[in-house]
Amino acid sequence: MSIIFSENDKTFTLHTNDTTYQMKVDKFGFLLHLYYGRKTKGCMDYLLTYADRGFSGNPYEAGKDRTYSMDVLPQELPCQGMGDYRNTAVVIKNADGSYDSSFRYKGHNILNGKYSIKGLPAVYASEDEAQTLEIYLEDPVTKVQITLLYGVLPELNIITRSAVIKNAGTGKIYLEKAQAACLDFVSGQYDVISFYGRHTMERNVQRTPVMHGTQSIVSRRGTSSHQYNPMIILAGKETTEDAGNCYALSFVYSGSFKGEVEKDQFNQTRVLLGLSDDLFSYPLEVGDVFYVPEVVMTYTNTGLAKLSQNLHTCFRTHLCRGKYKESVRPVLLNSWEASYFDFTGKSIYQLAKQAADLGIDMLVMDDGWFGKRNDDYSGLGDWYVNEEKLGETLGSLIKKINSLGVKFGIWFEPEGINEDSDLYRAHPDWALSVPGRDPVRARYQLVMDFSRKEVVDYLFDKMCKVLDQGNIEYVKWDMNRSLSDCYSCATKDQGRVQYDYVLGLYDFLERLIKKYPDILFEGCSGGGGRFDAGMLYYTPQIWCSDNSDAMDRLFIQYGTSFGYPMSSVAAHVSAVPNHQTGRITPFNTRGIVAMSGSFGYELDPDKLSEEEKIKIQDQIKSYKKYAILVQKGLYYRLSDPFKDEISAWEFIAADASEVLVSAVMLEVHGNMPINYVRLKGLIPDTMYCEKTSGRIYASDALMETGIPLPAKMGEYHAYQMYFTIERN
Ligand code: GLA
Repeated sequence: MSIIFSENDKTFTLHTNDTTYQMKVDKFGFLLHLYYGRKTKGCMDYLLTYADRGFSGNPYEAGKDRTYSMDVLPQELPCQGMGDYRNTAVVIKNADGSYDSSFRYKGHNILNGKYSIKGLPAVYASEDEAQTLEIYLEDPVTKVQITLLYGVLPELNIITRSAVIKNAGTGKIYLEKAQAACLDFVSGQYDVISFYGRHTMERNVQRTPVMHGTQSIVSRRGTSSHQYNPMIILAGKETTEDAGNCYALSFVYSGSFKGEVEKDQFNQTRVLLGLSDDLFSYPLEVGDVFYVPEVVMTYTNTGLAKLSQNLHTCFRTHLCRGKYKESVRPVLLNSWEASYFDFTGKSIYQLAKQAADLGIDMLVMDDGWFGKRNDDYSGLGDWYVNEEKLGETLGSLIKKINSLGVKFGIWFEPEGINEDSDLYRAHPDWALSVPGRDPVRARYQLVMDFSRKEVVDYLFDKMCKVLDQGNIEYVKWDMNRSLSDCYSCATKDQGRVQYDYVLGLYDFLERLIKKYPDILFEGCSGGGGRFDAGMLYYTPQIWCSDNSDAMDRLFIQYGTSFGYPMSSVAAHVSAVPNHQTGRITPFNTRGIVAMSGSFGYELDPDKLSEEEKIKIQDQIKSYKKYAILVQKGLYYRLSDPFKDEISAWEFIAADASEVLVSAVMLEVHGNMPINYVRLKGLIPDTMYCEKTSGRIYASDALMETGIPLPAKMGEYHAYQMYFTIERN
């Protein structure tokens, strides 16, 4: 049993294989947090300490006892109005206009299996893989009810948390803030690791000490964003890849979010993660229910590599769904960097022929095949095939491509709309915009009001009509701007629009994957602007960045690897000079970097030399050989590209029988010191054979000193080494 309630101490203890989480209902009915960390046993309420803290308030029931203060005690659900002046998890504007709540324990239930959340993505598990704890809380005055949901997946060392908020009172209320998870640490000095970025340079890694005050990580863009990722790692000061304690919190949601890390007056640390409270004021009529998206949490005392592996396994096996969850993804050739908007049916067919010759599995026709769409100023919204541009029907083009033995995929951006489109002319109010104001344009487009069901229904229908025209086996779902003008003419309560927009998006995606279970869906938002656990529930892979430069990708993929499995990272080989940076990198290096994710090409093979074409065929052979290892193996970061001269990483089979090590020289200098790549996770006291050289190495030496990288002339060389265990 992974969830235990002790009647005696009124404690709830959640056990995974290696971790324990504990909380307690105290004498006033508050739900206090006691512990989250390495596996332990017994009641830990001795961690709660009491002292007269002067200006920190005391609940009324405490009477003359000034030592009891919610301003100091660790909690599961800190709310406005309880005398806790730290950051809150929930704020409700009550029917009488007051903002105070005081949630108290009413009961609980322990169930087998993992809860799901209506309309929202969530980790799933079978009855015997997980347990759920529901804790019922109620405000005694307003009668608002909150059910805290905890999912425990022992084998994966994962604990999830979500909440359901019900207005069981007598008047309309507004939810002003809803954080999904709250972790209070009564002691310890921590660093916070977060992931910031920009378009074409996502998920840079930042590690800073937790300081007095609040460090917040926020997206108010309506998408999870290029700028901040909805994931927080809290790590001990000394924690490295290989050792030390660390916690990860990852929000399973694709809209605006807020993470808060606060060190309080007594050096205690509070971490919150959930919905952004900017532009959020969600109305709940009497009887209405609100679902807070979930946060996935994991802990380890063995360093950041294991922390990431816990998330990778959970997301890959218990969040991603569908046919492609476990199977090797097709190698694809995408038309975007090959020809941008400038293509015809003939040139697309020509690309597909090249794909067939080179052994590429699929041709993807990117942006530009619909409406009047020859640049990004018009056409978005008109989801009918531009047969004039293609010179034929979509169906016949697909048939021709399929007859080459090549699969066909296509690009959509259902959330975007150009003012210069038939759809906008017919339904200007279907785009988010504030009446009487000029809307903010981005990439010269507006955003469809996905909070409205009729808009989602219309677009779903149009998209299906295209998908039904032929054998389409892949869809890239793109979204190329942040939300603004968050006003929907369908509601008076504009504080609900951003959240309802995301529900509309999820509803659309859910309907699509149900209707087309054989299509591989890839997420995208100007590259990696919506790379989050929420999207992975619908799309098992996401275009990681619009930056296809192999060198920049090393940094982007490194940052992404902290929270997301490499099987979800779509990565392509593109032409040089690179279109985003102008950099020239060796073909081999581009291949090695891209084949560390879901592999493909983004170039016009007609423009390549014969020698390069042969390299493509070799790369595809290598990728197919390593694909299962890359998709399902454990991932180790072997260097920190932000600090080291090399970028190196490893995939190792779960039984450590085979290992793929990749390394790229980031810098070249005269008379350079040698860089050694130290392997990880091998079976000690065993021999491994590096297959290209045939050389045998002792595992302990590989892990202790490593392998020297050749000091070759020229920039950005990459090396791939494939080891298998020697059985005797
Ligand atoms: C975004 C995507 C690109 C491409 C273009 C098309 O930028 O990230 O890969 O699909 O849109 O407009």
